Amino acid sequence: MVHSQFDVHERYGGVVPELASRAHILAIDRVAEATLQEAGLAWPDIHAVAVTQGPGLKGSLLVGLEYAKGVAAALDVPLVPAHHLAGHLRAPWLATGEGFAEPRYPFVGLVVSGGHTSLYRCEGPAKVTELGRTLDDAAGEAFDKVAKVLGLGYPGGPAIDRLAQRGDPEALFVPRPMLNKGGLHFSFSGIKTFIAQHVETHGVPEGAALHDVCAGFQESVAEVLATKAVRAARRASIDCIVLTGGVACNTRVRERMCAQAARYGIDVVAPPPSLCTDNAAMIGAAAYERAALAFQNGEGFAQASLDARATWPLAPPAPRV
Ligand code: KG4
Ligand code: ZN
Repeated sequence: MVHSQFDVHERYGGVVPELASRAHILAIDRVAEATLQEAGLAWPDIHAVAVTQGPGLKGSLLVGLEYAKGVAAALDVPLVPAHHLAGHLRAPWLATGEGFAEPRYPFVGLVVSGGHTSLYRCEGPAKVTELGRTLDDAAGEAFDKVAKVLGLGYPGGPAIDRLAQRGDPEALFVPRPMLNKGGLHFSFSGIKTFIAQHVETHGVPEGAALHDVCAGFQESVAEVLATKAVRAARRASIDCIVLTGGVACNTRVRERMCAQAARYGIDVVAPPPSLCTDNAAMIGAAAYERAALAFQNGEGFAQASLDARATWPLAPPAPRV
């Protein structure tokens, strides 16, 4: 079961941290109970508890962490911490039974969400190297900020995706920041400023003009993401790209990534949209993988001492060029 807080944050045009943790407290027990019921399980059937340790909003992470500690202690089972982005990178495996292809190691992983835009070289579950990242806003943040400027509410990605389908991506040329420089790093704050200035000069677009602005903006993001991910794969002679995170739901981002990668014989594996956006299944899958490794190495898990990590790079940062 996935519980969404969009209604809590919509009127503010973005996530309000304090409201997010309060909404977590109110929902977490109900969501856990409903999930067990949906799965036809009871608490004693649980052998381990997976939990997101970070990165993210500390208040929200703490709610999940303390709840998970309580459950693990009460059931006397291991508590397995997971990295949020390791979860996004593990998501494609959850859909292989539904006809989705399974990624092959080594692959280039592009995690593109509301909080992150990072490219990784993944050689195995615990062997991940950062190749590039956004130097300012995440791509999802750009979608959300542009949607706010266009009066489309929060989250902005799905609304822009829908409106762009009827727009002409060439009607308004939106710059492609750092397309041919910055190596494998990204920058999205300039695109948001460009759209904000366009709105300041011409007013908030309506009708066909709104569709065109959405299509132009989306095309810019899609081109930059596809070009850099394909560049990363070609440089490393890797023939598989995993596209994941909320922005990987975007129709044009998926299309353009597949088209640009296909030119070089590179496969793109993207989970179905329901597994691209945040979900607990991907955290369970990442934790399962981590637990298996720890088991092999004879390691245990820290339980009560586990603390939330608001900032926690998945891999050491790639040098800034
Ligand atoms: O991965 P996610 O659920 O949460 C984070 O970890 O951040 O990603 C949420 C982000 C939001 O910025 C949202 O606007 C964006 O994913 N998003 C989309 C689409 N669906 C969700 N962006 C573009 N097109 C979409 N269809
Ligand atoms: Zn996420």
